[in-house]
This record gives sequence, structure tokens and C-alpha cells, in this order.
Amino acid sequence: MQINIFNNESELNRDLWRIIKEISEKAISEHGMFNFVLSGGNTPKSLYKLLASKPYSDEIEWSNTFFFFGDERFVPENDPRRNSLMAQETLLTPLRIPEQNIFLIDTSGSPEEAAKQYETNIREHFGSHPIEFDLVLLGLGDDAHTASLFPGTYALKDTDAGIKSVYVSQQGVNRITMNAPLINQAKNIAFLVTGEKKADAVFHVVQEKEEQEDPSAFYPARLIRRDDSVNWFLDTAAASRLK
Ligand code: 6PG
Repeated sequence: MQINIFNNESELNRDLWRIIKEISEKAISEHGMFNFVLSGGNTPKSLYKLLASKPYSDEIEWSNTFFFFGDERFVPENDPRRNSLMAQETLLTPLRIPEQNIFLIDTSGSPEEAAKQYETNIREHFGSHPIEFDLVLLGLGDDAHTASLFPGTYALKDTDAGIKSVYVSQQGVNRITMNAPLINQAKNIAFLVTGEKKADAVFHVVQEKEEQEDPSAFYPARLIRRDDSVNWFLDTAAASRLK
């Protein structure tokens, strides 16, 4: 994994924009589209706003970009907790991305139906090709969860790539999430983590040689592969415990 540490969020976002631009150009030249998985929460908001603002937005071919969500809260479509709503407000609407290029998670049925339908839609998009997203953007919780892979949840044990519905008791809410095997099939993965609150989690995921038999049960983001195609984008506060 490549660790990139920045003095502030705007320097970090500009460098991450450059990486996203390079990945999108390679993807579009190789297979005609850029399959981009967005992360949720608050951290990526400033990145999404930068991606949607000139001159940055002009440098990426959005017409061949397809957007997915690493996870979604199981709440109604217009609920302010929705990751898709945040992405629409900061990125997708300003860029006028057509609906058919956005893979939303339908939460009108049961959590299980939402997961199944999302997986079917993704499968159909990739056709006979393996489901290999060009870039998966991930956040990190202060408990070292990523996407909606939370400590102690059964999806951490998955070995087959897929979309899961999980009940997150810590928050008393259902969530729909890509599991680690599916995320790990991606060509590129980028963690975007800022703030002092995340320093411990970053340390336990990135650096610590944990003594537990299965450290990912405690720090789920350790399930994500750790090779050089995985980039961590950190500010100095989030990286403050790294040696
Ligand atoms: C979500 C995200 C989640 C997020 C982390 C960090 O649905 O909330 O997918 O994994 O990335 O919780 O969230 P913040 O950026 O808000 O700290």
C-alpha cells in the first residue's frame, strides 16, 4: 500500500483528483468506460465538490463514467443520511450525470431485496466480464470500519464477492454494502481519511502488527488488500500515529 500524507485537505484533494484523472483515462482507453465507486460519510464531500468544479471537472471524461456506491444506509431515497444524496448534491447533479450512469440502491423493499437488486444491476453492467471496478474510494471510521464493514458483523467472514445487507447494531440501522472480496477485485482502491479522530484507526489498519489471531475482526479495513494498487490519502492529523 502507498501512504500519501498531506498538510491539508485541499492539497490532498488536488492530488487525489490527479490520481482519479489518470485512472479514468486509462480505464476509458482500455475498456471504454470508468467504473467509479464512491464512498459515503462526510470526508469525501470536499473532494466531490472539487471534482465538480472548474478547471478540475473539465479534465475528466464524465460522459463515460459510471458511478456506484460502496455502501448505503437503508433509509428512504431522500433521507439526508443517504450517501447517494450527498453525492448527488456535491458531484452528480453539478456534473449533470445522467441517471443511467448512476447505480443507486433501491431501498423501497427489504434490505435483502435491496442488496440482491443492487448486485444484479452491477452484474448486468459488467455482462460477461468480471466485476472489477476501476476505482473504489473508501473512508475509514474511527472504529476502523470501511464501507459498511463494521467490527463484529457477519459480512466480515465473506469469501465470495458480493453485496450484503447488514444490521449495524452500533447505529441501530440496516446498511447495504460491498463486501471485502468484491472491493478487493477492483483495479485500484483509494482510502481518503482525515482528522485526528481517525489516527488510532489508521495506525491499527496501516501499521500495527496486531497480535490477535484475526485482527480484521477488530479492524475491518484490514480486510482490504494491501498491495501497491491501494493508495492511502491522509492528512497529517489522521497520520499522526504513523512512524
Ligand atoms: C458511510 C461510509 C463510511 C464512512 C466512514 C467515515 O456510509 O458512512 O461509507 O464507511 O466512509 O464512516 O465517515 P466520515 O467520512 O463521515 O468520517
